Amino acid sequence: MTHTLKVAVLGATGLVGRSMLEILEQRAFPVGELVPLASARSAGRRVSFGDREHEVRAVSEQAFEGVDLALFSAGAGPSREWAPIAAAAGALVIDNSSAHRMDPAVPLCVPEVNLEQARDPAKGIVANPNCSTIQLMVALAPLHRESPLRRIVVSTYQAVSGAGLRASECLEAQRRALAAGDEPEAGALGDVLAGDLLMHWSPDPATGYQEEELKLIHESRKILESPTLRVSPTCVRVPVVTGHAEAVSIECAAAITPERARELLRAAPGVELVDDFPAGVYPKPSMAAGRDAVLVGRVREDLGLPGGLSLYVVADNLRKGAALNAVQIAEGLLLP
Ligand SMILES: NC(=O)c1ccc[n+]([C@@H]2O[C@H](COP(=O)([O-])OP(=O)(O)OC[C@H]3O[C@@H](n4cnc5c(N)ncnc54)[C@H](OP(=O)(O)O)[C@@H]3O)[C@@H](O)[C@H]2O)c1
Repeated sequence: MTHTLKVAVLGATGLVGRSMLEILEQRAFPVGELVPLASARSAGRRVSFGDREHEVRAVSEQAFEGVDLALFSAGAGPSREWAPIAAAAGALVIDNSSAHRMDPAVPLCVPEVNLEQARDPAKGIVANPNCSTIQLMVALAPLHRESPLRRIVVSTYQAVSGAGLRASECLEAQRRALAAGDEPEAGALGDVLAGDLLMHWSPDPATGYQEEELKLIHESRKILESPTLRVSPTCVRVPVVTGHAEAVSIECAAAITPERARELLRAAPGVELVDDFPAGVYPKPSMAAGRDAVLVGRVREDLGLPGGLSLYVVADNLRKGAALNAVQIAEGLLLP
């Protein structure tokens, strides 16, 4: 008989949590018992998994008793509070929030890149990187292995689902208001995204950067074990529902030709090359949504930096950028 695991999902009513349930099911992860958790607001609601509905419970210490795997996607505050409790109860915690990512004792894992660093985590917690970092690392790690990265310049075009359920519903309401000729309300987005582009991720007055951009810098360095890597990010929220895009230019220790880069990317785990730009073939968020692969296209020499490369990277932020990456970590660490 297959060995099954007791799996808790904290944040089971959210966008990432729901995607986790879907992915556990799609990949036939051996869930013997499911414990869907959220805040007290959602206690008693039901989520469907397998062939039945499961009642959502408010997170508590007792909820983690006997749990083998705890997938967390409820934000940094709940993760800071509950991840150590779940780990002390014996669960392997895979945390989607930013709470533990930069803790030197917590591995920050993209399975295609550094699964080995995540084995036997000292605190029983493994952190899932930020969505924009994950897809960037899947695309750049094969090039970094060929010739170490010296610099990354990246501009992101991030979908609204990356900001959660309330933000996604808010964009819908703004679109309806615009279509009806009404003034859209800022609502959960804090500003009007419908028909516009926004930058609003916790600005850091000291650097002028947004928190989202600083995550790209620090997380990339940690994952690639490259503390002096230079990363220049700009993050933008776009009115797309699902799928983050990134325009990337890199400089490596030795030049990699576009032909060699395509060869490396074609063979890279988790990457799908979508690159015939003269024929109009390049990755789009609509192509990536609902899919597992990180789509890479427009691989070309950087005309602004001879020897450098430019490329365009697109992935489903809820799947590879969050839930799928977490489930892949669990598969790599817990399944034979
Ligand atoms: N969306 C993405 O693309 C993405 C990508 C990477 C990482 N993440 C991270 O994943 C986490 C969840 O994101 P999301 O997009 O799924 O957000 P979301 O749609 O807003 O869902 C949040 C979930 O967390 C639960 N929750 C909130 N406060 C809680 C508390 N105090 N105690 C227990 N549960 C609580 C909510 O439960 P209730 O129903 O009870 O409110 C809900 O289930 C965040 O840390 C986010 O930064 C998201």
